[in-house]
Amino acid sequence: MKHLIAPSVLAADFGNLERDIEMINETEADWFHVDIMDGNFVPNISFGADIVKVIKKTAKKPLDVHLMVEKPERYIESFRDAGADNISVHYEACTHLHRTLEQIKKTGALAGVALNPHTPVALLEDVLELCDIVVIMSVNPGFGGQKFIYQSLLKVKALSEMITIKNLPVLIEVDGGVGLQNAESLLQAGARVLVAGNSVFASDNPHQTVYHLKNLGIHTLYA
Ligand code: DX5
Ligand code: ZN
Repeated sequence: MKHLIAPSVLAADFGNLERDIEMINETEADWFHVDIMDGNFVPNISFGADIVKVIKKTAKKPLDVHLMVEKPERYIESFRDAGADNISVHYEACTHLHRTLEQIKKTGALAGVALNPHTPVALLEDVLELCDIVVIMSVNPGFGGQKFIYQSLLKVKALSEMITIKNLPVLIEVDGGVGLQNAESLLQAGARVLVAGNSVFASDNPHQTVYHLKNLGIHTLYA
């Protein structure tokens, strides 16, 4: 399977959100990555389900919703109703992660778990079967435009090995500081979904940047 590119709406121009979404619609991007921040789990506040509804109206690609909120189980159904196709919750924000993953699956959305940079992938051992997606955070969540944390690359490799041993169809997504400078190493390590915020929206030619991210020369390695 060819890897997927998920531009992060957080880096779009909120004053021209519809225009920016339409612009991404015309690229080779696969998903829209949608960051929800509650000012509690992370220091920043972004937006809620009503804005996701607005994004859904214009978006022609699935919405990959990343919940950076405490007790995300309170909001799963409302984000699904707002148009989320994938819903990822943070390992660190869930007391009953197994139950929350089942809750997501019950809505029909793909279920994801995101791991903060300090959280080892080994902690997923007993829930990996329930995950459609694991999001390796390669920055501390809360803000776009941060520097990629190198250790994340090793986590992608370790997780990829776990997935291979268990023979599971889990997608490894990497989120934070991803761009043309590190995309290829991440794919070689086993990443299958690359979230790209500033590297796409702040580039001179977002359309071309998505094209380059999507067409890195390594797909033959895992075709
Ligand atoms: C960080 C968010 C990321 C962010 C990525 O808390 O989860 O999705 O939008 O932005 P860049 O690619 O600019 O680091
Ligand atoms: Zn995110």
